[in-house]
Amino acid sequence: MSIGKKSETVKVVVRCRPVNKKEEAMSHEKIVEVDVKLGQVSVRNPKAAGTLLKTFTFDAVYDMLSKQHELYDYSCKPLIDSVLLGFNGTIFAYGQTGTGKTYTMHGLPTDSEKQGVIPNSFQHIFTHISRSQNQQYLVRVSYLEIYQDEIRDLLCKDNCKKLELKENPELGTAVCVCDFL
Ligand SMILES: Nc1ncnc2c1ncn2[C@@H]1O[C@H](COP(=O)(O)OP(=O)(O)O)[C@@H](O)[C@H]1O
Ligand SMILES: [Mg+2]
Repeated sequence: MSIGKKSETVKVVVRCRPVNKKEEAMSHEKIVEVDVKLGQVSVRNPKAAGTLLKTFTFDAVYDMLSKQHELYDYSCKPLIDSVLLGFNGTIFAYGQTGTGKTYTMHGLPTDSEKQGVIPNSFQHIFTHISRSQNQQYLVRVSYLEIYQDEIRDLLCKDNCKKLELKENPELGTAVCVCDFL
């Protein structure tokens, strides 16, 4: 199986969400096939019947039936483990509106089976910390969304504050509140 492959520093994984009720009601067809074993997604052009599928290969792919914990266990847990050892790690979700980023990252908080990458990684990190001895940890959290060219702080109640991305030679890249507002 390709999922769980450990060799790459940067991994790109794709998750395809199921067709929703609205799309079903509008008779939209599914044009994506997912081959979990080969790590491939094939896309069909619905307007050109009989043409070849376009196939793309990724480090892992998750199909419409994939569970939150599968994606977490194979594609996120190893990274969180390395962060707990002191390495840097980033997980981010990228995609068009409505494709399932919030569902995958956040999930449905009312159902533990449906909780996403963020609550699953918090559980993993805090369980690890609670079991460790003679070691101090500092956990800091920020929750940002980039929508078009704007950055939003999802933990800030005052969402109208304009945020900017700045580069500082000492601090590196940082998100900060715009000085001019
Ligand atoms: N893997 C999935 N299984 C079931 N429903 C999903 C899945 N991914 C997304 N959805 C549903 O599809 C809708 C759009 O997903 P959402 O995460 O809000 O998209 P995005 O954040 O990319 O705009 C939501 O109603 C969400 O619950
Ligand atoms: Mg979203």
